[in-house]
Amino acid sequence: MDSISVTGGNQLNGVIPISGAKNAALPLMIASLLTAEELILRNVPDLADVRQLKKILNNHGVKIEEVAGGGKSDPLAGATLSFNTPKITDTCAPYDLVSTMRASFWVIGPLLAREHEARVSLPGGCAIGSRPVDYFIHGLEALGAHIEIDEGYVVAKAPKGGLIGAMIRLPTPSVGATHTILMAATLAKGTTTILNAAMEPEITNVAECLVAMGAKITGIGTRTLIIDGVASLHGASIDVVPDRIEAGTFAMAVAMTGGDVLLKGAQRQHLQAALDILQANGVKITEEADGIRVQASGDRLRAVDVEIDTFPGFPTDLQAQYMTLMTRADGIAKIKETIFENRFMHVAELARFGAKIDSEGQVATVTGIEKLKGAQVMATDLRASVSLVIAGLVAEGETNVSRIYHLDRGFERLEEKLGACGANIQRITK
Ligand code: EPZ
Repeated sequence: MDSISVTGGNQLNGVIPISGAKNAALPLMIASLLTAEELILRNVPDLADVRQLKKILNNHGVKIEEVAGGGKSDPLAGATLSFNTPKITDTCAPYDLVSTMRASFWVIGPLLAREHEARVSLPGGCAIGSRPVDYFIHGLEALGAHIEIDEGYVVAKAPKGGLIGAMIRLPTPSVGATHTILMAATLAKGTTTILNAAMEPEITNVAECLVAMGAKITGIGTRTLIIDGVASLHGASIDVVPDRIEAGTFAMAVAMTGGDVLLKGAQRQHLQAALDILQANGVKITEEADGIRVQASGDRLRAVDVEIDTFPGFPTDLQAQYMTLMTRADGIAKIKETIFENRFMHVAELARFGAKIDSEGQVATVTGIEKLKGAQVMATDLRASVSLVIAGLVAEGETNVSRIYHLDRGFERLEEKLGACGANIQRITK
């Protein structure tokens, strides 16, 4: 298994190109199931989760090809992929595929909408939480689907004439449930209203793609999405939005090490809450024509409390990275996780650097200290793994982060991007 070795102490200076967002690319790829025509996605990141989802979509009959060159000017830009699904050849998403990449459960929406049936493995939990799918099931039942759980699979059947529009209120603004119900509703008969919908930029990216495919959607970017079903969707081409979590992660890395980095392609309005906190910490943030510039002295930052929230609040996917930042702050910061029930596994690993963190339930209290010392640590989930790399960038001596397959799920060329800005970081392939 690969690991990453980091020797702390170097500042970060230069330009980091921000890749296409994993959490937009995945649902956009799933949307290709909704049409028999070609869907072209540009700026698709090369990630383990994207490669895994390609396998799952191939299983349903989706033909996926890289468009040579894809018209990309920047060699570091993402791939341009063409998706063609003239016929859905299999409406079953098997356990061995779905269990490795939870978001693949979302195929249930397009399969039901287009084929009126689906047999999709329950995704199961993961390190950060039980990850139930009750909102998905209630939403699809509201659209007229008959749903049973059979041997760990969700078996869904639409009425003979297809799904029927409905009013659906989500108990909490679930990203996955919003994507899935939105995609299903595009081909339902009549109007669907999703109340308390998630409004992350990735939802907007998908909704705009569906509109480009002929869907009728209003309220995009708000908590209320209204979809007037259509008989079919046609092809389209769209860019995957830049990854706001990658951008926020690198902004925190610079805040930690000190330096001056342009996050090329990052869009301020996609991560405003996190940028506001960084400015309160004492980091200089400037919006430029081609991205966001982050400048920091590398001195100790002001400790600022954070409470996680759904977009546009401070994202749960930056919680671990922010906790790392606060381990060397001048003061005490309280971090409250409100989305997932078990997203503090990085606390024990950060303690191995000498960090002082007390976690009680959903609140972690971080007492900033002067120095971290390099350590052997283990990645436990995607975002926790990068928080350990950031700690290694400033810790005295060498840090080795193992089990970085977690990292490869969501960060493209991490060591290359950080190394190009001066980090002393290597991937060790065993
Ligand atoms: C998406 O996960 C993201 N994944 C997650 O990113 C992100 O952390 C999360 O949204 C929150 O922003 C992708 O986009 C692929 P949710 P999702 O449904 O859709 C509860 C990463 O690191 N819930 O918004 O699974 C659930 O238990 C990943 O890139 C139900 O109770 O998240 C959780 O507590 C990690 N019942 C809360 O809602 C349901 O039916 C938020 O979950 C669905 C969700």
